Amino acid sequence: MGWYADTLFPPLLDWATRPLERDRDALLAGAQGIVLELGVGTGANFGRYGENAREIHGIEPGAAMLARAQAHADTLPHPARFQLTEAGAEALPYADQRFDTVVACLVFCTIPDRDAAAREIARVLKPDGQLLVLEHVESERTGTRLIQHSLNPMWRHLACGCQLTRDTGSLLQRYGFDVSGLKRRRHPKLPGFAGELLQGVATLAR
Ligand SMILES: C[S@@+](CC[C@H](N)C(=O)[O-])C[C@H]1O[C@@H](n2cnc3c(N)ncnc32)[C@H](O)[C@@H]1O
Repeated sequence: MGWYADTLFPPLLDWATRPLERDRDALLAGAQGIVLELGVGTGANFGRYGENAREIHGIEPGAAMLARAQAHADTLPHPARFQLTEAGAEALPYADQRFDTVVACLVFCTIPDRDAAAREIARVLKPDGQLLVLEHVESERTGTRLIQHSLNPMWRHLACGCQLTRDTGSLLQRYGFDVSGLKRRRHPKLPGFAGELLQGVATLAR
């Protein structure tokens, strides 16, 4: 990765997602058992895990981002709880049905092969496990969707691969998730083009 992605983008990401602090807290309050967080970034979620999260495994393909996440984990109580690995969500280096909880927080927007990632999550999640989701997605409103599609090429470049036009709910449904626990809402403090959120808990459909 280059200087922008390694040095400037990580603090920009933390700054830009500050309006989501409460949403992150609410999401991670539900994490329990053996947890996998996808694309951990700078580790912005790490301090929010409660005691019910026994082990927290994190993957991140960017080496510089991963180093930041590790440095952050090292400042927290019980740093040994965090086990971080350089990997992408498309090929998770874990056994089948390993995790009670998988966390997808602002990551499906960026994963290049989201189909492979969804398949991998379904593989590593226990049958009664939960996928905690906080994602910005393509809007259902025509006007906002047009803006998202027109901004997307530039945004993708500026935000290191993040896309504004992903329909993560339909994707998860295609890969066998029950998405009835995922709700859409418009975040009042984010710009409209990035403020349509999909949030909640998905499970493997029985
Ligand atoms: C918008 S950032 C969000 C970071 C973090 N999840 C958060 O909530 O702040 C997207 C993250 O996805 C990571 N990423 C990119 N490609 C990925 C992949 N193939 N698998 C997993 N994560 C990926 C990026 O490196 C980046 O850290």
